[in-house]
Amino acid sequence: MRKKIKVGVIGTGFIGPVHVEALRRLGNIEVAALAEVNQEVADKKAVAMGIPRAYGNYKDMLKDPEIVAVHNCTPNNLHFPVNRDILNAGKHCISEKPLALDSKQSKELVKLAAKKNLVNAVNFNYRFNPVIQHARAMIANGELGTIWNARGTYVQDWLINQTDYNWRINPEHTGASRCFGDIGSHWCDMVQMLMGCHVTDVVAESMKVYGHRLRPKREIEAFAGKALKPKDYKKYPVKTEDLVMVMMKFENGATGSTTTSQISAGYKNGFTFAIDGSKCSIFWDQQRPNELWIGYREKGNEVLLKDGTLLKPEAARFAHYPGGHNEGYDVGPKNFCMLVYEDVAKGRKNKKPLYADFYAGHVEMAIVDAVMASAKARKWTKVKY
Ligand SMILES: NC(=O)c1ccc[n+]([C@@H]2O[C@H](COP(=O)([O-])OP(=O)(O)OC[C@H]3O[C@@H](n4cnc5c(N)ncnc54)[C@H](O)[C@@H]3O)[C@@H](O)[C@H]2O)c1
Repeated sequence: MRKKIKVGVIGTGFIGPVHVEALRRLGNIEVAALAEVNQEVADKKAVAMGIPRAYGNYKDMLKDPEIVAVHNCTPNNLHFPVNRDILNAGKHCISEKPLALDSKQSKELVKLAAKKNLVNAVNFNYRFNPVIQHARAMIANGELGTIWNARGTYVQDWLINQTDYNWRINPEHTGASRCFGDIGSHWCDMVQMLMGCHVTDVVAESMKVYGHRLRPKREIEAFAGKALKPKDYKKYPVKTEDLVMVMMKFENGATGSTTTSQISAGYKNGFTFAIDGSKCSIFWDQQRPNELWIGYREKGNEVLLKDGTLLKPEAARFAHYPGGHNEGYDVGPKNFCMLVYEDVAKGRKNKKPLYADFYAGHVEMAIVDAVMASAKARKWTKVKY
């Protein structure tokens, strides 16, 4: 039997268990330990998730010599210090997005990761839906022709009510941008990865719908707020945005636009994009993840249904079930971890990975900073990498 790579996970709210499940599906990884906010929570989660070792302080987990890679699944404000500690402990670092609170912090992490020669990755998971990798190959082969424009949305409704609360609303935990940093970053990462180039300039308009919100008197995990009663809340001012519209320019001369929102009723995870080229356009909707729409002027449009035997050879390995057997949200993190652990097995960073490395995470931070600066100044703003 192959020797398993031992891994630790810090933070086990919503996304931590998604990482654990993805890692377990790979077969050659053992999730050996988890760290949580205190020992009581850590012990409880370790029992629930069947993880042998539980730490109430992540720094103790980083001293474990058996653990070679660590996943940082904590709230945004802990990404910078925890990622730095992981790398300084000599462990490969897999961070949740956003990489840090701002581009100053993310730049420092890029430098540190380069110095350490350790695998460094950021979980922009949507890159790894099988039909997305098919679309990437289509664009790289010139099948769309000249790329003219990218457009789309990332809209949700989970913060539509004044009583909806999560740490993401607080700028100390989330950063200067809430909505765009949280989900606009996924949108920009996706279209940049597909087009193979970066956003250079942005102009943005942002809004918040409540001057103040009502928050529970105690902290709760993401998506767990529906069971609370009026007496459980207190009033607080809102400093982060609920909705952002951005127009952008890309290095290849293309234009783009996206609307991101956490207050759009009925949209649970409405991540869509279209890319318009001179030969055809493509469209994808995260809520119908097995379908890629391809639109033509001179002939009938097509919908490609995920099927490993019909996908481009570069994309086929990302489909794990036969055609007609749908793959969903979980296929992204699985494929992300699959690529990351190919590099972990080699023991060093990959200079040009297909997954987002810390530099790609830094690019997103620089875009978020430029979007916030543009919304404030109400003018076109350069993205400073
Ligand atoms: N890639 C994606 O699609 C995706 C999806 C969801 C969340 N995320 C990212 O993952 C991160 C976590 O989000 P979430 O929705 O899971 O949040 P969450 O609030 O559900 O979970 C955060 C967890 O971190 C733990 N934690 C807090 N401080 C800690 C500390 N000092 N040490 C150890 N654990 C600590 C909390 O107890 C909690 O269990 C965020 O940065 C978010 O942007 C990414």
